[in-house]
Amino acid sequence: MENDHIPFKSQVKKDLEPQEMLRIIFEYAAKIANERVLENVLMLMADMGREMIVSDRCTVWLLDTSKNELWSKVAHGLDEIRIPRSAGLVGYAVTHDKAVFIDDAYTNEQYKTYLLNGALSTDQQTGYRTKALMVIPFRNSQGEIMGAYQAINKLTECGQFTDKDMEYLTLASSYAGKSLESALLTSEIEETQKEIIFTMGEIGESRSKETGNHVKRVAEYSYLLALGLGMSKEEAELLKMTSPMHDIGKVAIPDSVLNKPGKLTDEEFKIMQHHTLIGYNLLKKSNRHILKTAAIVAYEHHEKWNGRGYPRGIKEEDIHIYGRITAIADVFDALGSERVYKKAWELDRILQLLKDERGEHFDPRVVDAFFRQLPAILRVREQYADATLENAADNQ
Ligand code: C2E
Ligand code: SIN
Ligand code: SIN
Ligand code: SIN
Ligand code: FE
Ligand code: FE
Repeated sequence: MENDHIPFKSQVKKDLEPQEMLRIIFEYAAKIANERVLENVLMLMADMGREMIVSDRCTVWLLDTSKNELWSKVAHGLDEIRIPRSAGLVGYAVTHDKAVFIDDAYTNEQYKTYLLNGALSTDQQTGYRTKALMVIPFRNSQGEIMGAYQAINKLTECGQFTDKDMEYLTLASSYAGKSLESALLTSEIEETQKEIIFTMGEIGESRSKETGNHVKRVAEYSYLLALGLGMSKEEAELLKMTSPMHDIGKVAIPDSVLNKPGKLTDEEFKIMQHHTLIGYNLLKKSNRHILKTAAIVAYEHHEKWNGRGYPRGIKEEDIHIYGRITAIADVFDALGSERVYKKAWELDRILQLLKDERGEHFDPRVVDAFFRQLPAILRVREQYADATLENAADNQ
């Protein structure tokens, strides 16, 4: 068994002197306190724990009670990892509210089954050698278990984790606890906001009997157009979240107008046009960035590049770029879809209209981005097709 120390011999280290320990705590406590992004808090906590107890690896797991899973983020650029709540040693420790110490994962009998579907199967895939292992659950301020620290392989001469290490990790989790909880709350609120926004968009849609995936497609088209215009992924994501709300104001349009089978009279169309203002007024009161952006989209998605749109008749770059993008996404999708008042158009006819309206209804740059992105746009159109779309050709 002595040989098992060899992989670590080149990096044998000593436990920290009190001075070093303090330096690490100060350094990380300051960083963590300033960090709002949940994943970053997790990674900082993991680094802090790893340095404090001189382990080779350290991971912070969080319990997601809504999905009955444990999840973690181990590195920038990598996706979060998720495991069933009951999986592996971490699942065991969290479920039984118990700290677990293992001196050698390969000879341990007591936790063998947990190790086999956790650390040991990971080792098989990666060629890593897990020897010493420690899992320490930690709690939120209500005293509920919220996650666990997992440390692998102690880099000191003795090679084992001790009660002192457990105390250090418990200390680290309590320093980070407040930041972790507030980052968790922020992330939950953001998730909730996204869901509410999407749901509201769907309500606007269902009122006008535009069933199916209109909202989803407009979101994806807007995303692709934003990227095609050179916007960052973050900004494209923002537009993707908010463009589904463009017609939310339709909730307040009378059924007799909204779902009229035939052509609208001038007066009815005036009423219909109010959906832009209604949506804007619903959304603009919020201070949330996402909802403010959605307000712009609702307000400006029927403005035209040439100034002949509504509600304000503003033109060119006076129209927010998000409005100009959503305008194309919306019309492209509306034309390809059956409505109570019209059949779906064939693709060629739609593309011709976009070309004809380049510099009239639509911003020329956005039309150009549209055609650059056409292959991806058509993939989305296919992926989120409504049943009725398949019949589009028959409807001509
Ligand atoms: P929508 O049906 O989703 O259409 C969105 C936009 O796509 C329209 O904005 C228009 O720019 C374009 N579009 C849709 N169908 C056609 C078409 O057959 N030909 C052309 N050239 N463009 C089309 P718009 O015109 O401002 O209309 C806004 C909304 O008002 C429409 O959303 C729809 O809900 C309603 N609407 C417009 N016209 C009528 C109508 O004649 N009857 C009924 N019942 N509703 C209408
Ligand atoms: C959660 O743990 O509440 C979910 C957060 C996430 O999965 O990003
Ligand atoms: C739409 O998704 O916009 C229209 C749905 C339909 O009527 O096929
Ligand atoms: C829609 O795309 O559902 C509609 C309409 C609009 O642009 O107002
Ligand atoms: Fe609209
Ligand atoms: Fe729409």
